[in-house]
Amino acid sequence: MINANDLRRKFADYWSSKKLGHREIPPAPLVLKEDPTTLFTSSGMQQLVPNLTGSPHPLGKRLYNIQPCFRATDIDEVGDNRHTCFFEMMGNWSLGDYFKEEQIPWMWDFFVKELELSKSKLYISVFSGTKEVPKDLESELIWKKLGISDDHIFFYDATKNWWSRSGPPEKMPDGEIGGPDAEVFYEFTDVPHDKKFGENCHPNCDCGRFLEIGNSVFIQYQKNNGKIIEMEQKNVDYGGGFERILSAINDQPDMFKTELFIDIVKEIEENTSKKYTDPLSIQAIRIIADHLKVAVFLIIEGIVPSNKEHGYILRRYLRRAAVKMHQLTGGLTPSFDQILDRGVLRVYDGIQGIDRHKQRSLIFQVVNREMERFSESLDRGLKHFTKLSDNQMEAEAFNLFASYGFPFEITAELAKQRGVMINKITFDEMYKTHQKLSRKVSSGMFKGGLADHSEQVIRYHTATHLLHQSLRDVLGDEVRQEGSNITGERLRFDFSLSRKPSDEEIKKVEEIINQKIKEALPARFEIMPKEKADQIGALSFFKEKYGDKVKVYFIGGSSDNPGLSYSKEFCGGPHIANTSEIGPIKITKIKKIGANLIRIYLIQHPTSTPDVEF
Ligand code: SER
Repeated sequence: MINANDLRRKFADYWSSKKLGHREIPPAPLVLKEDPTTLFTSSGMQQLVPNLTGSPHPLGKRLYNIQPCFRATDIDEVGDNRHTCFFEMMGNWSLGDYFKEEQIPWMWDFFVKELELSKSKLYISVFSGTKEVPKDLESELIWKKLGISDDHIFFYDATKNWWSRSGPPEKMPDGEIGGPDAEVFYEFTDVPHDKKFGENCHPNCDCGRFLEIGNSVFIQYQKNNGKIIEMEQKNVDYGGGFERILSAINDQPDMFKTELFIDIVKEIEENTSKKYTDPLSIQAIRIIADHLKVAVFLIIEGIVPSNKEHGYILRRYLRRAAVKMHQLTGGLTPSFDQILDRGVLRVYDGIQGIDRHKQRSLIFQVVNREMERFSESLDRGLKHFTKLSDNQMEAEAFNLFASYGFPFEITAELAKQRGVMINKITFDEMYKTHQKLSRKVSSGMFKGGLADHSEQVIRYHTATHLLHQSLRDVLGDEVRQEGSNITGERLRFDFSLSRKPSDEEIKKVEEIINQKIKEALPARFEIMPKEKADQIGALSFFKEKYGDKVKVYFIGGSSDNPGLSYSKEFCGGPHIANTSEIGPIKITKIKKIGANLIRIYLIQHPTSTPDVEF
């Protein structure tokens, strides 16, 4: 049986043979840093766009390679037996040299002679034409000359048999190149057709009986002033999924049971005590396997998790893998080290830039740092999510992101599992406003008075809101916050009051705060028009200037239920997610610092009775 290494070698030998005369081009980086149109390489042809439109390639007109590809747009498909976001694409290209007459028989020979795939299991699809581009009868004739019978040739429209980086002709922007394609499908005759996908099975049916293993695109068109025009240079752009071809060679419809996945799956089983054969676990196992491959290939190209561009994509894949892992283990968050090392790195050692021993520690470090960050809030975030009603999910998606680090897509997926589809528009709006407000915070426009953003400082920051409200409850509405200063050691808070508070009153304030901490009230924010915030009575600084939209932190309750909140205040954050995270507090000192101005100190854990200086 041909294994993965044999397949790599056979492919290279075939296209570089004297007869076919192709030169190997180095794979392009997976991560594209300079390209304003796309973040990642998702197809072998991407690095050749200038050469497909006329600029000569230094290695000539006949090229091939095996290109690592990443298609983030396929993320929702991952989980079945054949879709992954990371894959390797075997490609060959003619830059204005040979065309259909050569490509079709050569590709066919590779499948049936070199790989010995059974002819009867191979099906062909050809372009049926549009108003602008004729039906591809030329290709049909060539297939027929090769002995393919009519019942193995299928015609499809531009949604299936046209390829450009932007999809069908009407979606191509000016300048974009593309053309009709001829695809080869492998039929897994043991997989019965599932009528859920249509009455009759056919190569493009999604039931899993057919698998596309090769796509020859005849790049002979370009969009120009909104019209599809013939290019002078007629090109061939062939791409075949390496993992899929291996599935066909093995006559194994489940790609995750082939050599490129089996050890990764085994390591996931071992680390979760769940079996791949378990229908409740299989989807999560496939997602983890794919996403960790993605992570490894992005990390070796220098990407680290962040909230922007490439880094955000990496974060999203790692966090989704963590959620799936959490679901499989019922809450334990085991390390990914073993799966990464004995799974992904061992399978790819020496291939596509992977050096298991050299890269292992970097990969562990990047992944573990991200997992440490996320695991603290993962459990709490999932618990928070389970408490949400169906119609709260959309509005709360941003809170899950801001308070628990859940990328939108994870929340959307959790919602979908409960049968609720949520829209990203609300999230995006809140994200934008939040960014603006955060910029104001960092440029000092909100005088949060925070020394840093450590956990302890954030706890004290939430305690400030409890203190402000409890002072008003006990001492009256004359109390207004005049300033605050927080370090990891203590919270200092200045407020207006024209008299000395009594010991009992201070004790009462302390009691209320500790009570609110015990009640484990959620702290969450909403972004709303300033008018609405004023209307529901959110506290604001007199001296501060606010824009049209403001961020209001609620401790308990929400804008729909302002009556349920203990405190509501204009604030840029950050805050902890629940008051129970603060722990018992004590007021240690109270001091008059000016006319009608009092300073109060509070610390976590009781140590002393307050000093009073009046
Ligand atoms: N560009 C085509 C694809 O990505 C063929 O290589 O499928």
